Amino acid sequence: MPQTLLAETALADGRTLSIVEPAPADAAAICEVIREAFGNRPVVDPPPPALAETPDTVAAALAGGFGVLALVDGRPAGIVIVSVDGPMAGIHRVSVRPGYQRQGIASAMVEVAIELLTARAASTVELIAREEFPQVVAWWRRHGFVEVGRRGTSLTLARQLPVRLEAPTAEDTQDIGRRLAGVVRAGDVIIASGDLGAGKTTLAQGLGAGLGVAGAIISPTFVLSRVHPSTVGGPALVHVDAYRLGSFAELEDLDLEVSLDDSVTLVEWGAGIAEGLAEDYLEIDIRRSVDPDDETRWIFLTPIGGRWTAARPELEAL
Ligand SMILES: Nc1ncnc2c1ncn2[C@@H]1O[C@H](COP(=O)(O)OP(=O)(O)O)[C@@H](O)[C@H]1O
Ligand SMILES: [Mg+2]
Repeated sequence: MPQTLLAETALADGRTLSIVEPAPADAAAICEVIREAFGNRPVVDPPPPALAETPDTVAAALAGGFGVLALVDGRPAGIVIVSVDGPMAGIHRVSVRPGYQRQGIASAMVEVAIELLTARAASTVELIAREEFPQVVAWWRRHGFVEVGRRGTSLTLARQLPVRLEAPTAEDTQDIGRRLAGVVRAGDVIIASGDLGAGKTTLAQGLGAGLGVAGAIISPTFVLSRVHPSTVGGPALVHVDAYRLGSFAELEDLDLEVSLDDSVTLVEWGAGIAEGLAEDYLEIDIRRSVDPDDETRWIFLTPIGGRWTAARPELEAL
């Protein structure tokens, strides 16, 4: 089995970064990368198991999951090993060789690993980070991981993976919104992101139709928020466009006219602004296909907090 190319970009210095799924024959080179990367870190007690890797243990780990290998101008520069156990996945041995660090190679490998896990419908990815390396822990937090456990100085960090839905047409996106109406309840907050024309308002229209609310749901241009009362005795839909809002404080200053507890609130362009509205929220990210002639949208639903983690099976059934 040869290497499979997964992504390719140029580094700041002009060299080519290729992210590949390694072949079994790469195990020895991968072991070398891991031992170099971990051997270069300050000593911790107990030592990380990564230092005990051999080509055989690496080959076994690759066979039990998959690897994401970074090549710079064709030479191994970094590795991530991923284990998969049903819906649970683990990220291990995140290694970038000294001399190749601080160029975004670890981020690129982790991003690809998470995309592959999302495509495989894994729900949660976990990893262990040592508390002795606060900058490493902070790096994982910036990548959306939160602490869920600890043993000694080993922290378990986890991140929920999105549920990925495919919507070939605008009607399909509306239908997903309509079915989402059967999952939401009063007090829920949905934070939608995606470029202009991605389909955030289209999805909101379906949600409004499914909820049976009054009033046309349109992209609010001058009006930053609109309340659509229910015609069927259910929750209202509060539709907010945060495009021109700079901060959560500005969002809080909007007079939303109704209590969020009695409504379903959908905030377009809400990423980075609306997270303060609720502890638990559903993140919706809509992406176009890379092919400009293809109108398919990929809709990524990420459950944040217990309310939405519990609703994950319903989201997967949308
Ligand atoms: N698969 C699709 N899903 C959603 N919208 C689509 C799709 N295919 C085409 N469209 C069109 O793309 C546009 C999306 O616009 P809109 O929902 O207002 O985006 P946003 O609110 O994200 O800026 C609409 O004109 C819609 O008809
Ligand atoms: Mg819109």
